[in-house]
Amino acid sequence: MAGDFNFRDYTILIIDDNPNNLGVAVSALEGFGSTVLVSRNGESGLQRAAYAQPHIILLDVLMPDIDGFETCRRLKAHPKTEQIPVIFMTALTSHNDKVRGLAVGAVDYVTKPIHLDELLARVKVHLQLCTLNQTLQTQNNQLKSEIEQRITTEKVLTETIEQLQNAQRQLIESEKMAALGNLVAGVAHEISTPIGTSIMAASTLADETQTFLKAVEEGHIKRSVLSRYTHVAQSSSKLVLSNLHRAGDLVRSFKLVAVDQSHQEQREFNVKTYLQEVINSLRPQLKNAKHQLLLTGDDSLIITSYPGLLAQIVTNLVTNSLMHAYEPSELGLLQMDVQKKHQGIRLIYSDDGCGIPPEQQRKIFEPFYTTARHRGGTGLGLHIVYNLVTQSFSGKIEVDSQVGKGTTFLITLPQESLNVE
Ligand SMILES: Nc1ncnc2c1ncn2[C@@H]1O[C@H](COP(=O)(O)OP(=O)(O)OP(=O)(O)O)[C@@H](O)[C@H]1O
Ligand SMILES: [Mg+2]
Repeated sequence: MAGDFNFRDYTILIIDDNPNNLGVAVSALEGFGSTVLVSRNGESGLQRAAYAQPHIILLDVLMPDIDGFETCRRLKAHPKTEQIPVIFMTALTSHNDKVRGLAVGAVDYVTKPIHLDELLARVKVHLQLCTLNQTLQTQNNQLKSEIEQRITTEKVLTETIEQLQNAQRQLIESEKMAALGNLVAGVAHEISTPIGTSIMAASTLADETQTFLKAVEEGHIKRSVLSRYTHVAQSSSKLVLSNLHRAGDLVRSFKLVAVDQSHQEQREFNVKTYLQEVINSLRPQLKNAKHQLLLTGDDSLIITSYPGLLAQIVTNLVTNSLMHAYEPSELGLLQMDVQKKHQGIRLIYSDDGCGIPPEQQRKIFEPFYTTARHRGGTGLGLHIVYNLVTQSFSGKIEVDSQVGKGTTFLITLPQESLNVE
């Protein structure tokens, strides 16, 4: 009857005031290797169950003192014994008794006199169920703790991501502040020269005027005095004018650094056609130097964006080639290619001029970095381009340049800022 089921691993508690009735069953179970414990009344059965933790309890119904129903009720009410399955053994065969037994928490019942086969079969079923239940419980607990662990890990991850994002925001802010600080210092430095020169020239003119007026008042203006004064007046006013022009130009370029989209007009346009218009506006300068500018790329690329900003980028790149890449006698080839890339735009601009040495390449996007200050360069052109590309278009700009071969700028503008069709 036991089949391949192994009773050996189990402890069975029998609560019966007359266990002799069960003699055959007890010796059979012991024969299969189970540990069989016997209690002769409900009270001692309850205590035994609590400390011995049997796998199953066989419980007689009719006992003196507390009967089986009450014993079962107490077993089920106690946290240490509530899990242990109880099988009633009863001489009572009435339907009501069976229902009552099951109602107080028994899992099954066998009727007396006990039939060994039946008892073993029922005990086996419940022990198996009990084992399965325990396995399930363990797996459940494992699953629960795994889920809890995952939730904790996820929480930690989310917090870490949030911290990282905060740190990133702070970094960007402090970088922006540092850049602003540099810019302000640069502005002050750049503007102080022309303003200082203007002040000097104006004060010379003021002094000379004073002397001249005195001579007029005294009524003896010599020709030489007049000529000296007109000469100083002319040269000073020229100096003032040219230096204030220079200061004005500087102020204009500083304004461009603070790229303000609110004044720019957004509209739908064909990129290549628009770039051609920008190039045409630069033709006079290109013709002067006899350079060639080739525009290639996707004719059908239409975007909704700020054409003015794109024009600023391209104009700066082209004027840089004209200003820095070639000797006056050289004939350059400038090329611009525009393509759709990952729903955004890829713009490649290159010249075949002198190139930029590697140690300078890192600095060219910094404000006020210029190798042409003596020729009126302020070093803001590529800084403006950089701000336009990365801030206004959320894009990327890279430079690739080799001395003696030329310079290439690779610009990618992502879809989000363009509404590419
Ligand atoms: N196409 C190029 N070929 C060689 N050098 C270049 C080229 N473009 C830029 N550079 C170098 O990068 C520097 C920075 O360029 P940027 O446009 O920022 O300033 P700039 O042209 O000197 O002055 P600005 O544009 O403010 O009038 C230039 O001074 C030059 O040394
Ligand atoms: Mg420039």
